[in-house]
Amino acid sequence: AKLHTIAKAAGKLYFGSATDNPELTDTAYTAILDDNTMFGQITPGNSMKWDATEPSQGDFTFTAGDVIANLAKTNGQLLRGHNCVWYNQLPSWVSSGNFNAAELQSIVATHCSTVVDSWDVINEPFNDDGTWRSDVFYNTLNTTFVPTALNAAKGADPTTKLYINDYNIEYAGAKSTSMQNLIKSLKAAGTPVDGVGFQFHEIVGELPGGLATNLEAFTALGVEVAITELDIRMTLPATAALYEQQKTDYQTVISACMSVEGCIGITIWDYTDKYSWVPSTFSGQGAACPWDDSLLKKPAFDGIVAAI
Ligand code: XIL
Repeated sequence: AKLHTIAKAAGKLYFGSATDNPELTDTAYTAILDDNTMFGQITPGNSMKWDATEPSQGDFTFTAGDVIANLAKTNGQLLRGHNCVWYNQLPSWVSSGNFNAAELQSIVATHCSTVVDSWDVINEPFNDDGTWRSDVFYNTLNTTFVPTALNAAKGADPTTKLYINDYNIEYAGAKSTSMQNLIKSLKAAGTPVDGVGFQFHEIVGELPGGLATNLEAFTALGVEVAITELDIRMTLPATAALYEQQKTDYQTVISACMSVEGCIGITIWDYTDKYSWVPSTFSGQGAACPWDDSLLKKPAFDGIVAAI
C-alpha cells in the first residue's frame, strides 16, 4: 500500500513525512522519501527554523530550506513550512532578550514575512499546564507576538494556510483549553489563523483517549486541524509485543484523523528510525517510526494502512 495514495482516496489532503538535509545523501532513504504515492507532503525537520534562516539579524539564508522546498517541488509533494516563532533553536541574537518590545515586535514581523511559505507560524506557545511559555517573545511582548507573526505571514503570502502547532493538546485538559481559547480570541479579533497542528509525539501503550472528540472541539471553532509530527516511541530494546502495541497505537491515531472531516492530513516525524529525533532527545527510547533502521516496514505500517 502507498500511504499518500490511500489517504487521498479516503478524502485527506496528504500523508507526509518530515525529512532533514543531511539525510538526503542516503540514496536508499531518498528512494522511499521521493515516492509521492507514499508521501504526498514533506516538512523540513530543521532547515526552516529561525537559527537556520536568520542566524544573524537581517542575514537571511534559505539555501538549506530551499533544498527541501525544491525537493518537494521536484517530487510533486506539498510542503509544510516549520517554523516561524518558537522558543527553541533560536539564534542567540533573538533569545538574548536585548530588545525592547517595539524592536522585538518588528523583528518577529520581519522574520515571519520573509521566510513564510506555508507554515507553522507559532510553535509550542503553551506550557503543559496551559499557561504561556516564558520565552523571549512572551516575556517581552506578552501575547501580542502571536497576531504580529500571523499578520506578517499573511502579508507575505495571502494564500498560505497559517497554523499554530503544539504537543499535548491532543487530549482534553488545560493545555488544549488554552489553545482553544487562543483560537477563539484570534478569530474574534479578525486575526488570520487557518489551522491547529497537533504534533502527536506519543509513547507506545500510553495513548490518551478521546482523540477524535478533542480534534472536533477544535474544528468546531472554524479551523482545520492536522497531525504534524507523529511518532510513537518505546523504551528500548524493541520487542515483538511492543511492535504490536505500536501498530495498534498508530492505527488509533490515524483512525481519529480519518473520522474527523476537518483533519486534513497526517505527517510522520520522519518515516524511519534511522533518522528519528527520539533517541537523542529521550534517553533509552526510540523505534518510534513506521520503518525501522534498515528502512524496512514495521507492523506500525500495517496499522496505518488499516486505519486509512
Ligand atoms: C526536532 C528535530 O527533529 C531534531 O532534529 C532537532 O535536533 C530538534 O528538533 N517539536 C517540533 C520539532 O516542533 O521542530 C522538533 O524537531 C521535535 C519536537
